[in-house]
Amino acid sequence: MKTAPFIVLDGGEGAGKTTLLKRLKSHFGDTLVATREPGGSPEAEAIRAYIFAHPEFTPKEQFDLFWKARELHLRQTIIPAIESGKMVVCDRFDSSTFAYQLVEKGNMELEPDFWEKREQIVGTQAPDLYIYLDVDVETGLRRKHVQQQEGKEVLNHFDDASVEDQKRRQHGFLTFFQRVPHRVVDANRGIDEVYDDLVKILEEARAKF
Ligand code: TYD
Repeated sequence: MKTAPFIVLDGGEGAGKTTLLKRLKSHFGDTLVATREPGGSPEAEAIRAYIFAHPEFTPKEQFDLFWKARELHLRQTIIPAIESGKMVVCDRFDSSTFAYQLVEKGNMELEPDFWEKREQIVGTQAPDLYIYLDVDVETGLRRKHVQQQEGKEVLNHFDDASVEDQKRRQHGFLTFFQRVPHRVVDANRGIDEVYDDLVKILEEARAKF
């Protein structure tokens, strides 16, 4: 039985997800499992490497691989953690598939398949909460550029997107979040303010269990 919340942290480029999740992990310690998509379990990490090594894959091929990785990640990492009473915070989840493969790439014909796969693969284990780190595209890109110059960011082919692509992604996230439990956090602010909000949101979510 599930005894802790499953929370997703998602957002566009330069929202600060990775840094924030590291800080949350050191704050909550062993009571929190920090994981990521694509990846998060040995076999799902192998699929991650495969996706990143093949920029030529079509959005539909990526879509199928992201869902396969997600199925393994849920079974091998997420479900065992929430059943053992640990709160799970996942860096990206199906919200990213919706924003990147469907809306950004203009593949809305995949939408029925998306909700069907969600029902089959995620089913009753759907996240209790999605936190959307909302950052303006221009601000996000500026941060990403700085991180890259400081050697803190390894880019993949999904990073190679125009401002228009990123705006479509942002619209994709907002469309998806209307369908699921979510909180929007203004990530244009300094990282400490965003972090303080996240600690409160996670504590509230945990208190419900
Ligand atoms: P990652 O290096 O983890 O970086 P970040 O989350 O900081 O951007 O890259 C994961 C990439 O995979 C990211 O560019 C978004 C993309 N992605 C999808 O396109 N669809 C998905 O379903 C998921 C989970 C990720």
